[in-house]
Amino acid sequence: MILVNLETKVGGVKLEHPIFNASGPKDVTREELIEIAKSDSSAVMAKSCTIEPRMGNAEPRHYDFKGGAIGSYGLPNLGYKEYKKIFPALVEFGKPIFASISGLCVEDNKKMAAEFSEMNSVAAIELNISCPNIIGKPQVGYDFEQSEERIQEVSAICAAGKKPLGLKLPPYFDFAHYKTIAEIINKNKVSFVTCINSVGNGIVVDLEKESVVIKPNKGFGGVGGIIKPFGLANVRKFRELLRREISIVGVGGVFSGKDAFEYILCGADAVQVGTAFMQSDTKVFGKILGELKEIMQRKGYDKLDDFKGKLKEI
Ligand code: SIN
Repeated sequence: MILVNLETKVGGVKLEHPIFNASGPKDVTREELIEIAKSDSSAVMAKSCTIEPRMGNAEPRHYDFKGGAIGSYGLPNLGYKEYKKIFPALVEFGKPIFASISGLCVEDNKKMAAEFSEMNSVAAIELNISCPNIIGKPQVGYDFEQSEERIQEVSAICAAGKKPLGLKLPPYFDFAHYKTIAEIINKNKVSFVTCINSVGNGIVVDLEKESVVIKPNKGFGGVGGIIKPFGLANVRKFRELLRREISIVGVGGVFSGKDAFEYILCGADAVQVGTAFMQSDTKVFGKILGELKEIMQRKGYDKLDDFKGKLKEI
């Protein structure tokens, strides 16, 4: 039996293995974050926070369907000051802690980035420029001028604080858009990108009620789970376009070790689990990891570099 070494790095942060939780599901409260810290997740990623606490959008705001889920939570979170108290308490579990920020304006992001950069307990910061569910606020990641401003200002602050900065990106679908955003990212001190956030503004229909299934935003919400082909494509394309030192975290429809393997084959350095964690519990990280190991052993790979980014064309 081959011994596999699953160690990896995200933005210079060492991880024991590539599987950890995505920002969003079950990572809002202290209790939820402790559960993740105790699990087989290789890092603890927190819910994207804002300056002030937020209750989020009206219920029902989540709906599971075969293969995926739709949601419009509206960034419910405890406010960044509460996470500043929680993160030091997670250090005893010995895993890197990622803060996620999603300010409602650039000044909010700068303030949170500056304060989290000063914290020893925070290994890295993920700047979410892709939340599709703040009613009246378009996704920043689709506005290249605004994206450039936010990335420039926040990356300078994180660089000054010597904290790796990552970007949680929306899915891109057009090669011209990939090129534009990649050029902006390459010009700035970005250490990793996480792609993709949920595919925004989908609709799921309840056949019997002849209605939408979630209340906020007239039923439009971010779709997760069945989006894997788009997640894989974004990882693949960004690996081609981004500076080599920028790590890529793949997310979107990771339910199994096979899904994780596919993301790494497309070029991901690590893989986050979102919808599958939402629909189950913390055991999902160990399950995916075990399956990934089995696939690697069956193929005779003893480290991630043996297959990372080596997707073949036909
Ligand atoms: C939400 O809170 O509605 C989702 C956040 C995100 O996907 O960025």
